[in-house]
Amino acid sequence: MPRPARPDRPAFSRRSPRPKPDHRTRQPAHEYELEALRGLEHVAVTELDTVPLARDIRGLRFWYPGDPERLSRLRSVVAAYRIRSWDVPRPRGLLGNQQLGELTDFLLGVAEVGGHRSFRLGAAGKESGVMQRLAEELQTGLNLPHDPQDGELLIRLRPQEDGPGWDVLARITPKPLSARPWRVCNMAGGLNATVAYAAHKLAGQRDQDRIFNPMSGSGTLLIERDLMGPSAAMVGVDLNPEAVRCAKSNIQAAGREIEVAVRDALHTELPARSFDLVMADLPWGDAISTHTDNEALYPAFLHEMHRLTSQRGRLCVITHEIRLFERVLSAQQKWHAHELFQVASGGHHPKAYLLSKRV
Ligand SMILES: C[S@@+](CC[C@H](N)C(=O)[O-])C[C@H]1O[C@@H](n2cnc3c(N)ncnc32)[C@H](O)[C@@H]1O
Repeated sequence: MPRPARPDRPAFSRRSPRPKPDHRTRQPAHEYELEALRGLEHVAVTELDTVPLARDIRGLRFWYPGDPERLSRLRSVVAAYRIRSWDVPRPRGLLGNQQLGELTDFLLGVAEVGGHRSFRLGAAGKESGVMQRLAEELQTGLNLPHDPQDGELLIRLRPQEDGPGWDVLARITPKPLSARPWRVCNMAGGLNATVAYAAHKLAGQRDQDRIFNPMSGSGTLLIERDLMGPSAAMVGVDLNPEAVRCAKSNIQAAGREIEVAVRDALHTELPARSFDLVMADLPWGDAISTHTDNEALYPAFLHEMHRLTSQRGRLCVITHEIRLFERVLSAQQKWHAHELFQVASGGHHPKAYLLSKRV
């Protein structure tokens, strides 16, 4: 039975008015929010600055009248959400006749563009009776199955930060943006692609760089760099033949041509000063190595990369073995180092450093 409308109550908060047409594009502008890994927000803000027509930018929240497909090409963010706020004191208020109609229209607009085939709710208390009712209503209204585990249209509810109402965020893509389409092969210890992108951006992207990726694993750093633009040369090595096979599959899926080989990064027999940039995601001492192994690996690695990099070369290291890495670095006295970022990723908090040779 249709519920009576409640015209006495304003449906939207002042902060999030109805989408307005943008005079330059004549398309309605929508409000969006980007989600970045904690520690990489500044990289996402810089990338957001490159999006034409994004306006009224507040951190990672902004208005945008353009094609959402442009947002799905952002490389530093985990996800992009379209966002709308309702002036209701609790999620129960979203079950009101008017609010539910507006919410359904809002979500249908996102699903129509994103092609989502199922949905799920992501909110504190999502097992509650109210959330279950909301899921039932949306299942009918959206004509999409509710899949609490893997639903493609992720709908997040949260209290407004600076208002009395609730925000509803709808992820514009069926998968997170960090789950790259090129990743057809995954390995334990594989780097989150947004971390790889951030490391390259902050280490500096130069067309003339000859790039080496020792310990290349599934190829994340190689592929992300190749997608960013040209380089003079690029090669990856890994001791593990399975990792090299995995990297080759990913490289092929990305439609790139990058050389990867089974080789010990510490004994490549390449001539001194072969590279201008070395990018390394070192074994961290959990799933794929031991801390004891790393005690020997880290000093030998820094020594050999010093030989392989050009005089003005850079070495970017990502590691979760922070104490070990910093101890080895100060014992060797061969490198200047500065921290690029520390990021929360997959339950770890690795740091990325940029090193240059001491002269
Ligand atoms: C943290 S994983 C790299 C993960 C990679 N960034 C990815 O996204 O898949 C470290 C890799 O170092 C490799 N490795 C360890 N010691 C090595 C060595 N001496 N030479 C070459 N590769 C080595 C391991 O086989 C593993 O694949």
